[in-house]
Amino acid sequence: MIDPTLETKFNQHINKEIYSSYLYLSMAAWADHTGLRGFSHWMRTQAMEELTHVSRFFDFLTDRDGRARLAAIAEPPQDWSDATALMRDTLNHELEVSRGINELVSLCREHNDHAAGAFLDWFVKEQVEEEAVVKDILDRLNIVKGEGQGLLMIDQELATRALPTYDPTLGWLGNTR
Ligand code: FEO
Repeated sequence: MIDPTLETKFNQHINKEIYSSYLYLSMAAWADHTGLRGFSHWMRTQAMEELTHVSRFFDFLTDRDGRARLAAIAEPPQDWSDATALMRDTLNHELEVSRGINELVSLCREHNDHAAGAFLDWFVKEQVEEEAVVKDILDRLNIVKGEGQGLLMIDQELATRALPTYDPTLGWLGNTR
C-alpha cells in the first residue's frame, strides 16, 4: 500500500504529465499553423507519449492500492516566435519534469518505499533520453540559425518519428527519436 503523502505527490505528477501532453498538443497546433508539418507530427507524437507516462503512474497507483485522482489542467501557451523558441520551451519543460521526478525519487527514499523507487527508475532514464533528444534538435536548429533550407530539412526529419506502440507484456513503449 502506498503512503498517502506519496500518493498525493504521485497524483500531482500525473497532472504534470497530462499538462505536458496538453502543452505539446498546443505546440503541434502552432507548428501546423506555421507550415512546419514535421514539427507538428513530432509534437503530436510527444503528446501521445506523455499520455503513456500518465498511464504508467495511473497503473502503479492502482497496483499499490492507491488511486489516481485527476485535477484541472492549466492552459498551455498558444504561440511561439519560431521553431527555435518552440524547442527551447520544450527543453525547459522537460528539465522541469526531470526536477519533479528527482523530487519524487528523494521522497520515496525518505519513506523507505523501494517499490516506488524502482518504478521511478524508468522515468529517471526516460528523462535523460527526452532531454538529450530535444537538446539535439535545438543544437541543430542553432547550427542552421533556425531558418531556410536547414529548417526544412529538420522539419522533414521530425516527420519520421514513430508513434508509441503497445506491447501486451511490456506495456506502452515510447519512441522519443
Ligand atoms: Fe513525461 Fe516528457 O516527460
